[in-house]
Amino acid sequence: MPDGRPVRRLVLGAPPGVELQLVDLGATVHRIVVTGGDGVRRDVALGYPTVAAQLASHDYLGASVGRYANRIRGGAFVVDGTPVEVTPNDRGNALHGGPEGFDSRIWRIVDVTSTSALLRLVSPDGDQGFPGELTVDALFEAEENIISVTYEASTDAPTVVNLTQHTYFNLGGDAAGSVDDHELTVHARAVVPVNESGIPLAELLPVADTPFDLRRPTRLAGPLRSAHEQVLRTGGIDHNYVLDGSGLREVARLRCPATATTLTLATDQPGLQVYVGNFPGGPPARHGGRYRQGDGIALEPQLFPDTPNRPDFGSAVLRPGERYLARCVWQFTPQ
Ligand code: GLA
Repeated sequence: MPDGRPVRRLVLGAPPGVELQLVDLGATVHRIVVTGGDGVRRDVALGYPTVAAQLASHDYLGASVGRYANRIRGGAFVVDGTPVEVTPNDRGNALHGGPEGFDSRIWRIVDVTSTSALLRLVSPDGDQGFPGELTVDALFEAEENIISVTYEASTDAPTVVNLTQHTYFNLGGDAAGSVDDHELTVHARAVVPVNESGIPLAELLPVADTPFDLRRPTRLAGPLRSAHEQVLRTGGIDHNYVLDGSGLREVARLRCPATATTLTLATDQPGLQVYVGNFPGGPPARHGGRYRQGDGIALEPQLFPDTPNRPDFGSAVLRPGERYLARCVWQFTPQ
């Protein structure tokens, strides 16, 4: 780090299964190496080559995002009658926990085995404006062809919490270029449409007869080039899907036909932010060049955006004595 603190890298799992590399800066997924149906092992997660690049980036590659993933309108909301203001960092809104989100902190490595790592972050009362001291545990497990990420949190005063894993996947390999050819399935009948600054509109948008309909495997090139007003507004897909069902369940499937590699994603969260990265002027990528728009796709399980201001979206409030729990499971299959 610029102040001399070391950044550590951990390696979990082993061939022929999945190998997961993490860094403690941001509890970040650095590499995911899997074997495709073509027999080739490749890294399917976009990542930074250096700590400097990671610190310079605004793309959250692989980061553990918090205290509140996605946007809070105006950075303002009310918890149990108390008005709260979080520092805005995205077109007047608070994005991904504010200017110094959890992605920019060095998490403490509490426990490591050959297949698991537990990282912890204590976010002080008033951090970026959020009330309450929040203790967050991130447990990563990598065994055979499955990676599971579990976020747990507790607080000493009422606050809001929404944690997510922000890995961008390219199942053709991190240097393969566009994910246009990937086929994506998302089990959702509606998305959350947004205004020009990414804040949800009043009504959900049913996906039927729109480019957002991913209920059958859909090659990404199509929807990304649609003239739908919402696609034009976000420069591609940057939308939260209202997932079918509840509890830990399969919600999405991403397949790269060229390498015969499939990722199946399960989560217990109600929403999935699908973001096909725009990477404007990003820092150096691991392949030596730069990532371009559409080189990776983030599938971020989470609550719906701006839930603290949208009672119709449920609640993001965590109170003392309660336990926040969010799970995300990635299974890789050679098909
Ligand atoms: C999320 C947001 C995007 C963008 C990325 C980070 O996916 O929805 O608008 O801010 O994070 O670059």
